[in-house]
Amino acid sequence: MRVLVTGGAGFVGSHLVVRLQAMGHFVSVLDDFSTGRRELPSGARLIEGDVRDSSIVRQALQGQDAVFHLAAVVGVPHAMARQWDSLTTNIVGTLRILEAIEGEGTPLLLCSSSAIYGKTLRVPVQEEDDVQLGNTHVASWTYSYAKLAEELFARAAHAERGTRVKIVRLFNAIGPGQSGRYGMVVPRLVARALAGQPLLVYGDGEQTRTFVDVRDAVAGMLLVWEWGRWGDVYNVGGVEEVRIADLARRIIALTASRSTIQLVPYDQAFGARFEETPRRVPRIDKVRSLGYEPRITLDETILAVAASLGAAEEEA
Ligand SMILES: NC(=O)c1ccc[n+]([C@@H]2O[C@H](COP(=O)([O-])OP(=O)(O)OC[C@H]3O[C@@H](n4cnc5c(N)ncnc54)[C@H](O)[C@@H]3O)[C@@H](O)[C@H]2O)c1
Repeated sequence: MRVLVTGGAGFVGSHLVVRLQAMGHFVSVLDDFSTGRRELPSGARLIEGDVRDSSIVRQALQGQDAVFHLAAVVGVPHAMARQWDSLTTNIVGTLRILEAIEGEGTPLLLCSSSAIYGKTLRVPVQEEDDVQLGNTHVASWTYSYAKLAEELFARAAHAERGTRVKIVRLFNAIGPGQSGRYGMVVPRLVARALAGQPLLVYGDGEQTRTFVDVRDAVAGMLLVWEWGRWGDVYNVGGVEEVRIADLARRIIALTASRSTIQLVPYDQAFGARFEETPRRVPRIDKVRSLGYEPRITLDETILAVAASLGAAEEEA
């Protein structure tokens, strides 16, 4: 098949592109390189441009059999600093894709996020649970609202316009190739451990996350793609809930670092316009019913992240 991956130069997208190519598909990438890397896997066709630009999107979609839509302004601190870009790229970009495939029959896999669940205290959280987002004057929810809007447009397009779309909600994908520059916690902490600098943990470190290795996440996305129901949504995540303070300790131990841990209050790190999600654990029964099982442990992924950051350092 000819497959378009928007955001294919990004962290998740680049792993997806490699996997799709290995499956024998011919892959095109639409990306503006705002956070993505220019070194695309060989054989991938590149369309450099903005997913908000309908003519670029239409051009990129010409002759394509399927589209995986990942282009987005990602990462809460990054999105907080670029509210307008985050809202327009994520919402308008998704709208452009939906408009361009309408009536063409091109199927779409939309990459959503666990961020849409907000600060719900439900653990584990499942697809049909209520979402609980904060007030719009708290900037840290902008990303969540934008991803939620993407889902709403996709579902409306499916229900009312016959668009063939499936949605995955990724939960904290991590792994080799991820940059800490945009606030992602694991590469940020690993980089500091490797440099022997204090690991900055925000808040009291009691907040939890459930990480999934990006290679497992991509496998989950492809299972949803193959076997998921049209118009439906699937959590794709890991199984081990970890407190961020414990994560920092584990990173120090695994990298044999002499770093210490330093707690930084949220308002110091992000200003007053920030609210934290206390726990985030996915219920993954639905995607498991399609054959999904996360296989790579958190420790293995941390070591892979350390190796990839070390290699990048040597290259530089
Ligand atoms: N990484 C995670 O843990 C995670 C979790 C939940 C959801 N997601 C979703 O997965 C997708 C990929 O995220 P990622 O972690 O790989 O982030 P990323 O920043 O590495 O990738 C996003 C890509 O989109 C591109 N992009 C940004 N704005 C664009 C625009 N206007 N036009 C064209 N391209 C543009 C960037 O250059 C980048 O290559 C996103 O939709 C994100 O919401 C990621």
